[in-house]
Amino acid sequence: MNTTKGKPRKMRTLIENVTLVDSTGSRPGKVMTEDGLIRKVYKARGRVQAQYDEKIDGRGKVLMPGFIDLHCHLRDPGLTQKEDLDTGLHAAVKGGFTTVCAMANTKPVMDDSELLAKNLDRAQALGLATLIQVAAVTRDFSDADLVDFETLRPLTPIFSNDGHNIDNADTMRVALEASAKYDFVLATHNEPETATVVRDIALLEKTPGAHLHICHISRKDTLDAIVAAKQRGLDITCEVTPHHVYASGMSYKVHPPFRSWADRKALLKGAVAGDIDICGTDHAPHTDADKRAGAPGINNFETGFAMYHTALSAAGMALPGLSRMLSAGPANRLGLKAGRIADKYPADLVLVDPDAEWQVNSAQFISKSHNTPFDGKWLRGKVLLTMKGGRVVYDHGSFV
Ligand code: DOR
Ligand code: ZN
Repeated sequence: MNTTKGKPRKMRTLIENVTLVDSTGSRPGKVMTEDGLIRKVYKARGRVQAQYDEKIDGRGKVLMPGFIDLHCHLRDPGLTQKEDLDTGLHAAVKGGFTTVCAMANTKPVMDDSELLAKNLDRAQALGLATLIQVAAVTRDFSDADLVDFETLRPLTPIFSNDGHNIDNADTMRVALEASAKYDFVLATHNEPETATVVRDIALLEKTPGAHLHICHISRKDTLDAIVAAKQRGLDITCEVTPHHVYASGMSYKVHPPFRSWADRKALLKGAVAGDIDICGTDHAPHTDADKRAGAPGINNFETGFAMYHTALSAAGMALPGLSRMLSAGPANRLGLKAGRIADKYPADLVLVDPDAEWQVNSAQFISKSHNTPFDGKWLRGKVLLTMKGGRVVYDHGSFV
C-alpha cells in the first residue's frame, strides 16, 4: 500500500520531460496524476514535493489530452466480423483515443436502452477507451418511427442515424425538438450533403434550444452554409474526417465520397480558421469481402492522428489547433469535462512524437479489418503512449 507517514494515499504517476500541448497552447512541463485525475500541472523546472508511485520519462516528446472521437463505427453487436468492442477499443487507444462515440448502425440498430446499456457495460469492463454509445433517432432507422428519447437520454448525450440520411423533414423537425427538450446533440449524416444541411439549418432556426452537429462535411458549400448559420447564432457544429482532409479525388468507396482539391482546400482553410469544430475519425471497418461487395468506409483509428497532423501542419496548423479539434472541441460539444491538461481534468493523456515519420501498413492494424486506401503512405506524427484514467493502456506498440 502507498503510505505517507502511515496514512494510506492514492496512486500517483509523474510524467516528466514533456512539452504539454492542449487547445490553450504549448509549454514545457510535467504532470502528476492521482486516482484517475490530473492532480497538478508543473512548470518544467517546478519542484515536485509530493510523493509518487511511478514515473514516466517523456523523453522530450509531446503530451496531449487524449483524443475524443465523436464519430466511429464499432460494429458490435451483429457485425462483429468487421470489428467488435474489444478490437475496436484496442485500435482506438493505439490511435490515442481515450473516449469514442460509436454510431448506432449495428445489428440490431441501437434504438433501445437495453442494447445501449449492454454495450456500455461491456466496454467499461474492457478498461480501454470510454465508450459513448450513440442512439438512433428512429427505430431501426425507419422513416418516422422515433425512438423513446426520454428513456435513452440518460444513457447517451448523442443521437444519430449516421450511415443514413434523415429524408423526412418532419422527422428531423421532431428530432430537433427532442434535442432541445432533452438537451442532446443530434448528429446528422447528410445525403445530398449541402441540400440536407441547408434544410436542417432552416429547421434549427425554428427550434430554439436544439443542438445540431453535422457529421463528416466534405464540401466547401456545406462549410459555407454552416459558417453562415453560426454567424446567425445557431447552435451548430461540424466535423471532418481524416480522409477528406488528407486526400481528394480518390475513387476508394466512402460516404461521403472523396471530393475535389478545391473542396479539400476549403476544409483545410476552415480547420485552420477555427470554423470546423471537430476532427472525427469515421473509423468504418469492413472485411475485405464486404469492401469487394461495395461497402463504403475507411479504417481510421490507427492512422487518424497522423493523417490529420500531416495534412493540417502542412496547411499551417500547429499542435494546439489540432488539440482543439481532437479533444477540447468534441468534449465541449458532448458536455464532458475533458480534453485539457489542467488540474482536476481526467488523466486521459497521450504521448506523441509529432516529428516521427512512419509508413502505413494495414497488415499491422490491431483493428479486425484493414480497409484503407492509404497503405504505404508516409505520415508524420506517432502515438507513443496512451493513458486512460491515470493508467497506461498502450505503450510503444504494446497494450498494458
Ligand atoms: O463511409 C461510410 N461508412 N460512411 C458512413 O456514413 C457509414 C460508414 C459505415 O458504417 O460503414
Ligand atoms: Zn456518416
